[in-house]
Amino acid sequence: MFDTRISRRAALMGAGAFAAWMHNPARAMLWQAGALPVPAFIDGLIARMTLAEKAGQLTLMPAAWGGGVATALNPAGNGPSFDGQLDEVRQGRLTGVFNGNGAEMARRMQTAAMTQSRLKIPLLFAADVIHGHRTIFPVPVGEAASFEPGLAERTARAASYEAAAAGIDWTFAPMVDIARDQRWGRTMEGAGEDVLLGELIAEARVRGFQGKDLKDDDAMLACAKHFAAYGAAEAGLDYNTVDISERTLREVYLPPFKAALDAGVLSFMASFNEISGVPSTGNGWLMEEVLRGEWAYQGFVVSDYTGDMEMIDHGFAADAREAAKLAFLAGVDMSMTSGFYRDHLPDLVEKGEVPVARMDASVRRVLAMKARLGLFDDPFRRIDVKREKARSRTKPTLALAREAGRKSIVMLKNEGDLLPLPKAGKRIAIIGPFASGQHDINGPWVVYGDNGQAVDLATGVKAAVADKGLVTVVEGSGVEAPVPGGIEAAVAAARAADVVLLAIGESENLSGEAQSRAEIVVPAPQMALAEAVAAVGKPVVVVLKNGRALALAGAVVQAPAILVTWFLGSESGHAIADVLFGDYSPTGRLPCSFPRSPGQQPYSYAHKPTGRPNPPGDLQPYKAHYRGIPNSALFPFGHGLTYGRIEYSGLSVAPSMAWDGELVVSAKVTNRGSRAVEEVVQLYTHDRVASVTRPVRELKAFRKVALAPGASEVVTFRLRRDNLLFIGRENKPIVEPGKFDVWIAPSAETEGVRGSFELARA
Ligand code: NOJ
Repeated sequence: MFDTRISRRAALMGAGAFAAWMHNPARAMLWQAGALPVPAFIDGLIARMTLAEKAGQLTLMPAAWGGGVATALNPAGNGPSFDGQLDEVRQGRLTGVFNGNGAEMARRMQTAAMTQSRLKIPLLFAADVIHGHRTIFPVPVGEAASFEPGLAERTARAASYEAAAAGIDWTFAPMVDIARDQRWGRTMEGAGEDVLLGELIAEARVRGFQGKDLKDDDAMLACAKHFAAYGAAEAGLDYNTVDISERTLREVYLPPFKAALDAGVLSFMASFNEISGVPSTGNGWLMEEVLRGEWAYQGFVVSDYTGDMEMIDHGFAADAREAAKLAFLAGVDMSMTSGFYRDHLPDLVEKGEVPVARMDASVRRVLAMKARLGLFDDPFRRIDVKREKARSRTKPTLALAREAGRKSIVMLKNEGDLLPLPKAGKRIAIIGPFASGQHDINGPWVVYGDNGQAVDLATGVKAAVADKGLVTVVEGSGVEAPVPGGIEAAVAAARAADVVLLAIGESENLSGEAQSRAEIVVPAPQMALAEAVAAVGKPVVVVLKNGRALALAGAVVQAPAILVTWFLGSESGHAIADVLFGDYSPTGRLPCSFPRSPGQQPYSYAHKPTGRPNPPGDLQPYKAHYRGIPNSALFPFGHGLTYGRIEYSGLSVAPSMAWDGELVVSAKVTNRGSRAVEEVVQLYTHDRVASVTRPVRELKAFRKVALAPGASEVVTFRLRRDNLLFIGRENKPIVEPGKFDVWIAPSAETEGVRGSFELARA
């Protein structure tokens, strides 16, 4: 059981006297200078650098010798050979590389830097360690479903333990983008649609990656990405335009970045998208005023892969030289992949178009980070081939992957208590493209993990049951195309079984970067399979694989039991079996609402009421809803069943909260079922009248409560004024006195127990 910090919003919005003080940029600079001292030798080093060497320190390149799928991401031939890259290292033309090939590659490159370059500045090795390194944990949206930030911290810690041993100093994670349009494939990489959950997971993952001290050989520098509003792309189309009010930006999309910053993150990645006409990579307001000014950020900013170059296609920069200038002057310290900084910054400085002091400041930030990572003390501290092997896929990290896997599973339905299944005496047919095989297990955005080492569903089920002979496995259909005779074989297997596990959904390449989908549904050939199998009449458990919320329909949504299993990583099959057979009672909750139809996107439970809300009950004419569909989710944010029978009662809330006081809100939660469970109890509020309209509900706190059969617990939350902040008309955080509704409930769109209170005037 753990507590969430219910006053996050206050700190995030920079409320109060401190924020007002910090709004003065000059003061913010002073504070920065004082808080993170830069070792004296760095300025001496900068004084000895040529402009070309300075530009080199601001240039990050894909590793010519890639690791895992990195070779597919950065195909050989796109850049120099490994020997060519070693030459660049000797010439001081690189600050480091990313997605390289482990400790041996790092050793060779670092040796070149430390023995053959003029200034002997250590290289920095980066990688996309998004949800694990060699041990793969659930995709981040799945892990967020655990509603357990402590778990996200532990998996990030374990990922650092493995990856740092492979020579990696810096991970391009966490992605903290809020996702309110499920057509956007990168939903899988974040914490879903909610601001509070996004903040808590962001800070947990930063703490996990960075550990106690960045110098430690099991710590990596984290990177908050993609700054900012990357998830707000129009129509859920990856890389697309974002046109957004400053208020929504500050209220919804920026808070997880601020939370990451407050947790100590010291690198930010600029996003590919434009915001209201200005690409983030060239957005000085975002990086200089908000990030470095208001928030007093002291780390460095890196572009996303060719982000500076892409400003040419955006129609914002005329050519490479101008793109380099705009990105640099906007506050992007380091350029990734394009090489534009090393090609153009020296000339821009010589011609007086970029002040040399600005360049020195960026180089200082980067070198200070290398010092903070301990690289000047020992450039090889994370590079050790033996340690790389010894820390790879250890028993404890695999056990953690299994724990994280089962905690990420969300049970949407369980009619007639079909689940859990008995381990003995049942003939089980596992049917579908994800029934078995070493594919689509780890999930998208895995550079170093190997699906060949991951546990598939059939293996997990067979390991759990008493008699493997009672388990049949049939593919039935491909992911997006039928297989010859597939449906016939599936129907025959279903007929011969007592229960069907229908393993359907999305493959790894249906979600993730650049995988936007207009139709967020189970692909048609799999739906045909589901209908045919359902028609046999045997009980069906849908085991859904997905990187985003899907609009479930037909035989899938009508199945008596549905488990959302995302992509669970290395121990996937075992984790699913733990839930299927009752070794673990599901605790996961949806971090993103499952819509009734793809056409409902974008959708968030925290939508505004409109002037014509449809009252509860029938759809009414001239009210806000699509034809034939209630304006709510099919399975809302926060939804998820357990193997218990949970009852909410007895809300207790004082009628008013003093301006400087605290409000205690509690409810009784009872498990009327016969199995021990953990229930995620959620607290929501709604501000009835405000000078800026407010969402119909906002999550303010949650708590996971263990309940034995028949047990009750009174769950208590405390609210303060800070929890009721919002971004006012002046785009600053404010609180207004007045009436609020409050719910303690099992999801964002269930009633649970409800009351109200008044925030009194000052
Ligand atoms: C592009 C992606 O947007 C970003 O998240 C990733 O870190 C970089 N490529 C580097 O691989």
